[in-house]
Amino acid sequence: MTQYRIPVIPGDGIGPEIIREGRKVIDAAGERFGFDVEWIEYPHGADHYLATGELMSEDTLKELSRYRAIYFGSIGDDRIRPGILEKGILLATRFYFDQYVNLRPVKLLRGVPCPLKDKGPEDIDFVVVRENTEDFYVGIGARTTRGATRQELEVMRSLYSVRFGLDVDTDADEIAYQIGVISRQGTRRVIEYAFQLASQRDKHLSSVDKANVLTEIYGFWREQLEDIAKGYPDVRYDFNFVDAITMWFVKNPEWFDVVVTPNMFGDIITDLGAMIQGGLGLAPGGNINPEGTSMFEPIHGSAPKYKGMNRANPIATIWAGAMMMEFLGEKEAATAIVRAIEESLLDGRVRTFDMGGSATTSDVGDDIARRVREVNYSPSNGV
Ligand code: NAD
Ligand code: IPM
Ligand code: MN
Repeated sequence: MTQYRIPVIPGDGIGPEIIREGRKVIDAAGERFGFDVEWIEYPHGADHYLATGELMSEDTLKELSRYRAIYFGSIGDDRIRPGILEKGILLATRFYFDQYVNLRPVKLLRGVPCPLKDKGPEDIDFVVVRENTEDFYVGIGARTTRGATRQELEVMRSLYSVRFGLDVDTDADEIAYQIGVISRQGTRRVIEYAFQLASQRDKHLSSVDKANVLTEIYGFWREQLEDIAKGYPDVRYDFNFVDAITMWFVKNPEWFDVVVTPNMFGDIITDLGAMIQGGLGLAPGGNINPEGTSMFEPIHGSAPKYKGMNRANPIATIWAGAMMMEFLGEKEAATAIVRAIEESLLDGRVRTFDMGGSATTSDVGDDIARRVREVNYSPSNGV
C-alpha cells in the first residue's frame, strides 16, 4: 500500500467544510486504489492569525517543503483588512515554493447546466495556464501617506515628475503606486509549460495581454512568446487582448484549447471561466512547481456568508483533489474521482443550492465518495 503524507490547510470561511469533503473523497479513492493518506493539518487562516499573530512563518514553510503537494481550502475573513491573509498566507506560499504555473481547467462537465445559450460540454473544454509569481503580484508599491520609506518616496517623486513634469510635494499630494514586473525567466518558463501542454492537446495556444497599452511589460511578454513558438512549429498561437478575450470566452468558448496569461489577467478571466463551466463551486486549480512542492485548491475564495452552513459546493475542491492525486502519480484514482463527480452531476439528485438543489456540502461529498468506490474509470470511458 502506498503511503502519502499530505499537509492540508483548510483556512477560513467555507474552507474547512469543502476540504472535509475533498479528504473524504480522496480517502475513498485510496481504499479502492491501494493508497493511504495521512493528512497533516495546519491551522493557518484568520483565527490562527488573530490568536497568534502568525500568517505563514518561515518555519512552517520549511516544514511544508518536505512534501510534494499541499491541499488548500480558502482564506479571507471579514474581520481582517483585505490583503493581509491573502498575501501573508496564500501568496506567500505560492511564492516561497515558486509555484509558477497556476493551472485552471475550464471544462463543462456533463450534467452541469451551461449558462451560455447553445453551448455544451463539447464546446467548453480548455485549460488556463496562469503565470503565478510575477506581474502586478510582485508587491512593489507604496503610498505617500502610509509610512513610505525614503526610497519609495524618491520613486514616487520621480514617477510623478516623469508623468506630469512636476515636482511632487509628497506631503500634500497623495500618491499610490504599484507596479508590475515580469522577468525573462519567469515569462519563458510558464510559456514553455503552456506550449508543452498545447502540443499534447489540440495544438492551439491563445495568449492574453494588454500590449496595446502596457507596451513595456506585455510587449516583452509577446516577444518571449514569439521566440518560444519557434520551438513548437505544430502549435498554432494567437495574441488576444484581455478585454476582448472575456467576450470570446462567452461568445465562442469552443475556440480555446490552452490559454496562457500573465498573473493578474489570469485571476480575472478564470472567474469568468468558472461561470461558463457552471459556477465558482465547480472550478479547480493547481499551483504547480513541476520540480517542487505544489498546492491544489478551488479557485474560489472563502465565501464568508456561507461559513458553517454546510451549503457550499465542494466539487471544485474535490476536483482539485483529483488534480493533486494525478500530480502525485495516482492517475487512475484521479480519473475515477472526476468520473464520479460527473456521474453525480449527471444523476442530478444531489446538488447544492448554487446548482439549483437543496443538498448539503456533506451530502455531495458522500455521494461522490460512494461513486468513487464503484465507478468505471477505464480510459475509454473517459472524462
Ligand atoms: P469568493 O470566491 O469567496 O465568493 C464569491 C461568491 O461566489 C460567493 O459569495 C458565492 O456566492 C459564490 N461561491 C464561491 N464559492 C462557492 C462554493 N464553493 N459554493 C457555492 N458558491 C460559491 O469571492 P469573494 O467574495 O470575492 O471573496 C471572499 C474572500 O475570499 C475574500 O477575503 C477574498 O480575498 C478571499 N479569496 C480567497 C481565495 C483563495 O483562498 N484562493 C480566492 C478568492 C478570494
Ligand atoms: C485566486 C485568488 C487569489 C489571487 C487572491 C486571494 C490572492 O483570487 O486564487 O484566484 O488573486 O490569485
Ligand atoms: Mn481569483
